[in-house]
Amino acid sequence: MLTQVAEKQKKKELGQYFTPENVVAFMYEMAKLFLPKRTKKLIKIIDPACGEGIFLKYALEHKITSRVNLFGCDIDPMVEKEWRKLNVFGKLHLYICDGLMDEEEDGIKKKSFDLVIGNPPYGGTGLAELSRLLENNTAKEKKIINLFGEEEKIKEKVKENPMSFLNNPPALSKSQSQLVRLTNTLKDSYESWKIQGSRNEIGNSEETQQYLFENIYSLPPGKERTDFLLRATKVWKKAANEVQLSPKHIKVLINFPIEILFTERFLQLAKPGGIIAIILPEGIFANAQTQYFRDWMLQKGRHLAIVSLPRKVFAGAGANAKTTILFMKKRKTGETVKETARKKVLLTSPNQGNGSNIDLEKYFEEVLDAAKKMRK
Ligand SMILES: C[S@@+](CC[C@H](N)C(=O)[O-])C[C@H]1O[C@@H](n2cnc3c(N)ncnc32)[C@H](O)[C@@H]1O
Repeated sequence: MLTQVAEKQKKKELGQYFTPENVVAFMYEMAKLFLPKRTKKLIKIIDPACGEGIFLKYALEHKITSRVNLFGCDIDPMVEKEWRKLNVFGKLHLYICDGLMDEEEDGIKKKSFDLVIGNPPYGGTGLAELSRLLENNTAKEKKIINLFGEEEKIKEKVKENPMSFLNNPPALSKSQSQLVRLTNTLKDSYESWKIQGSRNEIGNSEETQQYLFENIYSLPPGKERTDFLLRATKVWKKAANEVQLSPKHIKVLINFPIEILFTERFLQLAKPGGIIAIILPEGIFANAQTQYFRDWMLQKGRHLAIVSLPRKVFAGAGANAKTTILFMKKRKTGETVKETARKKVLLTSPNQGNGSNIDLEKYFEEVLDAAKKMRK
């Protein structure tokens, strides 16, 4: 059982600030304006960082689509008890998994959803977990990839009996394998983190594991040493192929804003022509450092509306972030930026100081009216 303090800390690390129901309702009302007018029950919806499941509960209760078309996942196994409380558990497709990765067997895969909706994590520890793949190689004073973990223990084992270690290299733990899968997914399927700077030479780490076998040179020359070398080369190669990124790039990812990766993920999960509705920290739309990402987004989708929220929206959940809801339509194959350049985008902001006195319901009504007028 987690203590209250530990629970609070974990919520902070995972960016666990749940969305109030009036915001959820507003986002669906807006999304409905933009979704194609087809049989409602066919609309496939996912929230890939669904927390307690408020977006899915709303869709279920308000019959936005049939329950077989509702999907959600969250990385934190503890949310399962919230799913039970909200009475969504067992009624729709809910999984404990990393929302940044496909889970094909569960139907979570790219280009599959008409609507991707939610409030992904931000401001937490993001991808800090990836640092578990790295070890400080003190000899070289730099970080290297160490899949086997527990550097000192392993070195000891290699020293004692190198052949036995090589014949039975330790298996990766389940959590370590997940991290490896995540780095490889980020390398193969994500673009946003590669755009900035010179990240074009994305490759393996040649140093992977080699340092573990430094003591080879203490073996006398001869058959034992040759056999050891041959086996060791195979083990190194295998390990090096597991993680397809170098330590340098893993470090970039550890410090990369997870909300940007999630925005890319929302766009990946949407079908061509599908809608994304996502709550993001306002900085993404305002900071000079994220201009590259705004340019990238334009290529992938057309902005429909950008609705700034007052700070007080998440105050109840313990977060003080200034947030904005982005509605976008993913580009259809072949659709160019130029073709849609003249289409209108709705930009709204609660223009009463910091928005603390604003009547939120009224604000949402006004935005909805403006969106309806714009669609005419
Ligand atoms: C800001 S909360 C929002 C939850 C929910 N969408 C809502 O609006 O109420 C973000 C959620 O993302 C989850 N999360 C963090 N990293 C994740 C990941 N890599 N994959 C899936 N969920 C993740 C957290 O556990 C947390 O429940």
